[in-house]
Amino acid sequence: MKRIVFGIICGMLLLCACAGYFDMEPEQHENKTEDLVVVGVSQVGSESVWRTANTMSLQQALSDENGYFLLFDNARQKQENQIKAIRSFISQQVDYIVFSPITEDGWETVLTEAKDAGIPVILMDRQANVDPDLYTAWVGSDFEAEGEKAGLWLENYLRKKDREREEIRIVVLQGTEGATSVIGRTNGFQKVAQKHSNWQILEQVNGEYTTAKGKEVMQKLLETYDDIDVVVSQNDDMTFGALEAIHMEGYSTGEEGDMIIISFDAVKDALKMVEQGLIEVDIECNPLQGEYVSEIIQALEAGETVDKKCFIEENVFTKENVGEYIDNRTY
Ligand code: AHR
Repeated sequence: MKRIVFGIICGMLLLCACAGYFDMEPEQHENKTEDLVVVGVSQVGSESVWRTANTMSLQQALSDENGYFLLFDNARQKQENQIKAIRSFISQQVDYIVFSPITEDGWETVLTEAKDAGIPVILMDRQANVDPDLYTAWVGSDFEAEGEKAGLWLENYLRKKDREREEIRIVVLQGTEGATSVIGRTNGFQKVAQKHSNWQILEQVNGEYTTAKGKEVMQKLLETYDDIDVVVSQNDDMTFGALEAIHMEGYSTGEEGDMIIISFDAVKDALKMVEQGLIEVDIECNPLQGEYVSEIIQALEAGETVDKKCFIEENVFTKENVGEYIDNRTY
């Protein structure tokens, strides 16, 4: 473990002021920080319930009690802020950098700087389009599989409803442009959609992964098209907004309703809507990645090699199985 630089110690002294840290002798400060693994985390932002759960999972796993000193930065949806945070972690000589790249492109330079400084980088959630030598490991979801699951669910559902030959008019609410989750979910769904000449994707619009934007873009779609059969919304927050817009316009959703809603993430409030039949299916994206990140760091600390990619397990929730999971959902 590297020595911790002065700036970090100062930061820690400030943070720990309320916890009686100043009661310690100077040499105790140093011992305490020297024992901790210093991790700089750059989070995308706080755009969704999923993201908040992801942040909490990291903060719990990389806690002081677990032997970490966490430097956390919220990039507020701006790549330039993430790059700034990573550069600051490099200059503070942290032991590890963990970050969720907002988009796939644009990381080559700053990750080269981290590599030159000898700091291992662990990518989390989304991926970066760089030479794989520039990061040590990635942990996250198989987004393409998520999109494909959505398509296969729809295929199956339409067959069961005897609608497989009907023209099916679909709109897609996408999240942050250029993000791995958007690229993967879009490609995975397309893979199934292209096998069905009767599925017509009317439009794919950017709802920025937020409720407000989801509502706004859904309102516009409802003004443009009066016969939408399926809404594929790439996260629950956009779905909440879209549902508001749909219901405000007097349309209904669910089994006997006007539109089929397919959502992603599977946060607790959305699972309740699945139970109520407002959302037909929710494809899980698991935000609880903190433990996985910690395991990777512990393995590296022990001098072990780690897998380059670690996919986490995810489920699909419909009215049939959601009851078993709602109570235990913590986010
Ligand atoms: O990259 C994962 C996505 O980002 C989640 O689906 C979404 O809610 C989040 O903001």
